Amino acid sequence: MKKKLLIRTAAVLLALGALALGSRAAIMLTNTVTGQPLELSEAPEEGRDTQAVLKFLETGTNIYNEDPVCLPKGHELFLSMCSGCHGHYAEGKIGPGLNDSYWTYPKNETDQGLFETIFGGAQGQMGPMYGALNMNEMLLVMAWVRHVYKDDPQGATWLTAEQRASFKPFDANAKHIEPSDAMPPKCGGPAG
Ligand code: HEC
Repeated sequence: MKKKLLIRTAAVLLALGALALGSRAAIMLTNTVTGQPLELSEAPEEGRDTQAVLKFLETGTNIYNEDPVCLPKGHELFLSMCSGCHGHYAEGKIGPGLNDSYWTYPKNETDQGLFETIFGGAQGQMGPMYGALNMNEMLLVMAWVRHVYKDDPQGATWLTAEQRASFKPFDANAKHIEPSDAMPPKCGGPAG
């Protein structure tokens, strides 16, 4: 009798576990060009379970936006992974500018769309990034891309109303956040 109960308890726990896992990807993520679902399992194991990634998969929002503690790491990642094609401050080079309100793919105005483009790539030289960045790093680099936005803050729909009210269009010539390699726990670093 006891054994049966144990088995039943285990079954219930398993079902609950599956439910919890399933509910993690509450938003449906699709490739920017093909519209096919993204294979999140292709992303590195590391950086999958940070608070920011879990929140993003549930809501499509990025908690690193305008976080002064995490922007230095996002800046560093942008310089090493994106600036060669998109320009030092995302002003555009062989890839389009990412710092204004014009998007080739209008969905990049949302953080969900921006993540989808970075994860799965677009056309030509814009390859998928899941081999080079983990999902937490993608969110960090996205926050930096949003930070260098230079147009009307009213168009910064990815910000909360409160953030939008105090957002200053980026000016590369003014004093701004420097890049840093440091990974504070808050930004998905150890125990983060
Ligand atoms: C090897 C060059 C290259 C690298 C590296 C690169 N990109 Fe791109 N990117 C491009 C090109 C070219 C396009 C235009 C592709 C298209 O129109 O389909 C593009 C397009 C994009 C778009 C779509 C812009 C729009 O107007 O809708 C986003 C967003 C983007 N890149 C972000 C990034 C980020 C973030 C990184 C770094 C993690 C990165 N890219 C790295 C070349 C690159």
